[in-house]
Amino acid sequence: CGIVGHLGPSNSVDVVLEGLRRLEYRGYDSAGVSFINNDDKLLVYKKEGKIANLEAELEGKDIHARSCIGHTRWATHGGVTDYNAHPHVSTKDGIAMVHNGIIENASEIREELKGQGIYFESETDSETFLGLLIYHKRQGTPIREAIVKSFERIEGFSAFVVLNRETDEIFAIKKGAPLVCGSNEVNSEVFVSSDPYALAGMATRIYFPEDGVLCHLSVKNNQLLNFYELSGEKCHRYMSKEQTIDHDPASKGDFEHYMLKEIYEQPELIRSLTQYYFQGEGKESLEEATKLPMKAVNISACGTAFYAGLVIKDYIESKNRVRCFADIASEFRYRNPILDKEELAMFISQSGETADTLAAQSMCKEKGLKSLSIVNTEGSTLYRDCDVNLMIRAGVEIGVASTKAFTQQVLTGKTLSEVLAHGGIDDELRNTLASRYSLLAERVEQLLDNTKPIKDVADAIYKHKGFFYTGRGAYFPIAMEGALKLKEIAYVHAEGYASGELKHGPIALIDEEKVNVALVGEELFEKTVSNIQEIKARKGLIVSIGPKNRYELKEVSDHYIELDFEGLGDLAPLYVNVVNQLLAYYIAKNLGTDIDKPRNLAKSVTVE
Ligand code: G6P
Repeated sequence: CGIVGHLGPSNSVDVVLEGLRRLEYRGYDSAGVSFINNDDKLLVYKKEGKIANLEAELEGKDIHARSCIGHTRWATHGGVTDYNAHPHVSTKDGIAMVHNGIIENASEIREELKGQGIYFESETDSETFLGLLIYHKRQGTPIREAIVKSFERIEGFSAFVVLNRETDEIFAIKKGAPLVCGSNEVNSEVFVSSDPYALAGMATRIYFPEDGVLCHLSVKNNQLLNFYELSGEKCHRYMSKEQTIDHDPASKGDFEHYMLKEIYEQPELIRSLTQYYFQGEGKESLEEATKLPMKAVNISACGTAFYAGLVIKDYIESKNRVRCFADIASEFRYRNPILDKEELAMFISQSGETADTLAAQSMCKEKGLKSLSIVNTEGSTLYRDCDVNLMIRAGVEIGVASTKAFTQQVLTGKTLSEVLAHGGIDDELRNTLASRYSLLAERVEQLLDNTKPIKDVADAIYKHKGFFYTGRGAYFPIAMEGALKLKEIAYVHAEGYASGELKHGPIALIDEEKVNVALVGEELFEKTVSNIQEIKARKGLIVSIGPKNRYELKEVSDHYIELDFEGLGDLAPLYVNVVNQLLAYYIAKNLGTDIDKPRNLAKSVTVE
């Protein structure tokens, strides 16, 4: 979910809507705003669906306000309806609130409050926080203490933002969920959000409060922002920095979708990574990373980042001969893994806010392991909690289906593995890696210059009823990532399988309706071709993506996307992955889905 709040002289509703539009990719089941208008009235508008629906609802209404909070929702408890949308408001009590996260003891609190005569309008867990606030307020408790008492009562990871009509103040507090505050002293404005990116170009300074810090926003007597312990004492448990995020890169330019724009950004990003790690700011963190204990490496991540972890595991085991485990974070945290302080805990995340990844990190920290992140978002929770951070330098990624972040995550892991194997950072290694990465960038560029062969395949296969992506070695995680891209944006069933494993069950599903997207590397080439034959024999349609000019592939395939692997070595899987990204993109385009904001998904999943 995305949260934005604002207090200040400019129209708060406009500011909040602008912030919400930027955060819409984080959740887009419904959106809403609540604000205090010039007649001192607390109003609320909320609408199921995208922000455009809310904007249509606001059309023609007087929405001038000096304070406002807003929310875009990714539903957890309660269906996607207007009344389940946030903010949750009691006009009678003059309180509006938005929530991000899960209140685990919501049912219990709800029952208790019902007994106290508190009425609930929605099915959400979030509204129980409003119920608690109302309960305390009606007992005569001042708003600040009411928030503290309610916060102390709830279980689970959450961030709350409360707008209080009587005092025209905003309060914000969090536990294990993202929340930032912002200020612009020149304009006497204050902001709150779930993401600093929402405040780009508006707040000049960003504050990252720690868990359990009550943030107080008020423009009365130019107080702006103050931070308090739950006990009421002023505190400094926050990090603050100048706002450095530029808003412009987030524009789509001439591209039809953010996803396509982000795919096209990859060559430039691949090229700039060695500069950053060998001559720029990244050098220090890379040096620190090589000093971390590494008797074994435990990688945890979710989604695309997990598949990047599997490729990195391959690099670390083959190149460094260090035992490496890669786990899905939501499994790792609950399976009581055997961990040792001499081992490294590695976390991969674009957002740095994925709830399960964060929980896995805190579990490793408790067990005394040092943690390293491979992360895109500076200042994110993961970034702040890890001992060392390796930035992937992908820039803001808006497309919900991750593309450029995957490439940069894998390359960052690869860079670390190469530095460890080389025994340090020097010009020789820099030159080697720079030229290898730039060769990869060049190949990807050539691919992007002529996407017709991929488009043609997409046109031929998009109506098919099921896709099996297969690969061996490092192409196996690439197959899973390719299938994930397709299901995310095209809403068709796709699975990633190890080439040799398909015959152990899934082959029962193969018929002329099914497509096998076979990823073929140079290694184990013949064996992979034999696996393709097995699918061909069962009438499956074959799309092979592999080294060019191979008659074996020409013969067995219905469609053969020929690639120049020469000189790429173990970077070739990343090249193939870009083909998968484009194939998924063009299939989805033919099917007419919402590519940048696919149904049911959210960019950053801050609930477990
Ligand atoms: C969500 C996104 C995926 C992403 C995953 C992990 O499910 O839709 O695209 O791979 O979260 O996100 P992270 O920010 O931790 O990389």
